[in-house]
Amino acid sequence: MRLSRIAQDAKLSGTLAIDEQFQVRRAEGQDVISLGAGQPDFPTPPAGVQGGIEAIESGRTRYTPVAGTPELRALIARKLKEENGLAVTPSQVVVTAGAKQAIYHALLALVDPGDTVLVPTPAWPSYVDMVRLVGGSPVTIPLTAENGWKLTTEQLMKALAGTPRRPGVLLFNHPANPTGAVYTRDELARLAEVVRGEELFVISDEIYEHLSYDAPFTSFATLPGMRTSTVTVNGFSKAFSMTGWRMGYAAGPAPVMKALCAIQSHTSGNPSSVSQHAALKALEAQLDGGEGREPLTRMQSAFKLRRDVVCRLLDAIPNVHYVKPGGAFYVFVDVSAYFGKPLGKGRVCLDSMELAAYLLDEAGVAVVPGGAFGDDRSIRLSFATAAEDLTVALKRIHRALSGGA
Ligand SMILES: Cc1ncc(COP(=O)(O)O)c(C=O)c1O
Repeated sequence: MRLSRIAQDAKLSGTLAIDEQFQVRRAEGQDVISLGAGQPDFPTPPAGVQGGIEAIESGRTRYTPVAGTPELRALIARKLKEENGLAVTPSQVVVTAGAKQAIYHALLALVDPGDTVLVPTPAWPSYVDMVRLVGGSPVTIPLTAENGWKLTTEQLMKALAGTPRRPGVLLFNHPANPTGAVYTRDELARLAEVVRGEELFVISDEIYEHLSYDAPFTSFATLPGMRTSTVTVNGFSKAFSMTGWRMGYAAGPAPVMKALCAIQSHTSGNPSSVSQHAALKALEAQLDGGEGREPLTRMQSAFKLRRDVVCRLLDAIPNVHYVKPGGAFYVFVDVSAYFGKPLGKGRVCLDSMELAAYLLDEAGVAVVPGGAFGDDRSIRLSFATAAEDLTVALKRIHRALSGGA
C-alpha cells in the first residue's frame, strides 16, 4: 500500500515505548511505578463534573458554533483579562479539542510549506512533529542547563541569523515541559524585544500557567508590542485535571483567529459540546474564587511539596544533575555520567532510551527518555504521582544507579 509522504514520516510519540512496557508489566502484576505521567493525578473539579452531567441531561448535545459557545468564549476572554492582564474580545478566542489542536491549527494558519519554525529544545515532542505535519521545517534551538533551560536573546538571535529562510514563527512554552523552566517578566521582555525587531510571530503555549511554584507567571502576549504578534494557547488539561475532556483554546489577533476558525470548521468542527459546558462551569467556579478555586490551590500545594521531595531525593544520588523546576510537574535529570559504565548486573547504557529501559528492568520505575524531547543525556521524571510512590521510586532509582558512574 502506498502511504502519503506525511504518513510515512509520522511516528508515534517517542514517549510511548517505555510506557507500553510499563503497562505490560503492570498487567502481569509486577511491582512497577510510573514517573512518566503527563497529566495530573487529581480528579476533575466538582463544578466541571456537574457541568458535564448537566450538559448531557439538558440536551447540550448538538453542534455548537465552530469556535465554541458564546458563553465559553466570553468567559475565557474574562479569564485572560483577570488572570493574565490580556485584553481580547470573545471573538478573538477559539475553543479547541485540547491545546494540542490549538497549536496545530495555529501552525496551519501561520506556516507555509518550507517555512522554518523555531523550537527551543528540549521541548514537548509534538511541536517538532506538528511543524513537520504542516510541511514546515523545524529549527531547534539547543537550550542549556547552565541558563536554567531558558532561551536567551543571544541564542534566539543566533538561530535567526543562522537560518537560511527567515523563520516566521517561534514556538514558545513556559512553564516548560520537560524542564519546568519558568521565565521572569524581565527575561520575557528581553526576548520580546528581539521578536519585535525580527517580525516573528509567537505561539505561546501556556498550558502549565497555574503550575508556577516560586514566581508569578507572565503571559507572553502581555509584553510590550506582543499582543498583535502572539497566539496564546492554553487549556483545561493541566490546571483543571481535565485531560480526557479535550478542552483547549487559542486567543490572538483577529485575522489569525478567523483563520483558525475556518480551518477548524473543516477538521473537527466544534469541540465537544458536553466538554465545553463542563469547562465553562469549572472555569466559572475558579474565577469566582472561594470554594471553587480550592481544587486548584490544593493541587498547586501538593505539586510544590512533591517537587521538593523529588529534588531532595535526587540530591542524594551522586552524579546526576538537574535544574530545580520552577513550574509544571517534571524534573529533567542529566544522567549522562552513568552512560558507558557498568551498572547492575554489568549492564551498560549508552543513551537515555537504554537508561530508561534499565530503570524499568532493574528499579521497576518508568521514566521518559530525554531523547524524546531532543536531549539524549537526560530523563524526565514526572511528579504527578502520589508522594509515597515518588519516594519509593526515587530510592529505587538511587539503588539501581549506585555502583555506576
Ligand atoms: C507543553 C504541552 N503543551 C500542550 C499539551 C497538550 O495539552 P492538551 O491536553 O490540552 O492537548 C501538553 C500535554 O502534555 C504539553 O505538555
